[in-house]
Amino acid sequence: MPNKLTSSELEKVTPVITVPGNANSALVERAKRNAMHWQLGFDENATQGLVLMQSEAHLALKQLDEPKVGEVLVDFASDALTFRRLHGGGKKEAVAKAVGLKGQTDWRVLDATAGLGRDAFVLASLGCNIDMIERSPVVAALLADGLERAQHSPELSAWLPQRMRLHHGIAVELMANWCTVTQNVAPDVVYLDPMFPHRKKSAAVKKEMRLFQQLLGPDEDADALLAPAIALAKKRVVVKRPAGAPFLAQQKPHIEMQGKANRFDVYLINPKAGD
Ligand SMILES: C[S@@+](CC[C@H](N)C(=O)[O-])C[C@H]1O[C@@H](n2cnc3c(N)ncnc32)[C@H](O)[C@@H]1O
Repeated sequence: MPNKLTSSELEKVTPVITVPGNANSALVERAKRNAMHWQLGFDENATQGLVLMQSEAHLALKQLDEPKVGEVLVDFASDALTFRRLHGGGKKEAVAKAVGLKGQTDWRVLDATAGLGRDAFVLASLGCNIDMIERSPVVAALLADGLERAQHSPELSAWLPQRMRLHHGIAVELMANWCTVTQNVAPDVVYLDPMFPHRKKSAAVKKEMRLFQQLLGPDEDADALLAPAIALAKKRVVVKRPAGAPFLAQQKPHIEMQGKANRFDVYLINPKAGD
């Protein structure tokens, strides 16, 4: 039987930005600027706890007390994402089907719970124009770092920076003022993937997920995302849920698409039009 996570494991922590022991002064300055930008603390000599490690190569979330737990970073040129981009199911991928990409070009998608931007990346690599909203400064910093590095990647620089934009803020607030505040046109699709409260500690709850739970906790206010998303989207709202999870805001979708581990709930804005 998996154990329940203790309350301290579920407690949210705010990491400081730090640097490796051998960091030169330029790297220290870079880390300090980053800390100031995201309004996070800076500790050059941090030796324990959850930290954002600024190295020459990248920014990564790391638990210094658990060196065996891998670091979490955004790498759009990673082997896994490159394989998925080149050899994945394309527009037949479950997420692409749920978003309704078949036959569409330049679909405008607002990913209002961006996280590490993997779903957004898959959609962008299939031609979507993506705005991403992320409220956690730590996750937004990781995402911004990944986007910055993508600008220098030979495979990604020609298309990714134009197709993926990050907005740091609270989705409910930004969606309510989307067209005026960001001077954006309304998205065809709003995509939601809030963190579901996994309270069990099991092999299935991956190490990365554990770091994330320590950092963010579950998105207890997720239900509040659905109404503004439906009010904003021109065509549909797609909600990613773990298989077996209840509907967001207890609202039954028009379409349920069952994947292996996840379910995509699709809310059509104009069901009679069939799109
Ligand atoms: C499960 S993760 C999303 C993972 C993402 N789909 C991916 O492929 O990497 C959920 C993210 O949504 C963010 N989030 C949740 N509620 C939000 C809100 N109201 N406004 C902005 N971001 C939110 C959380 O901070 C978290 O980073």
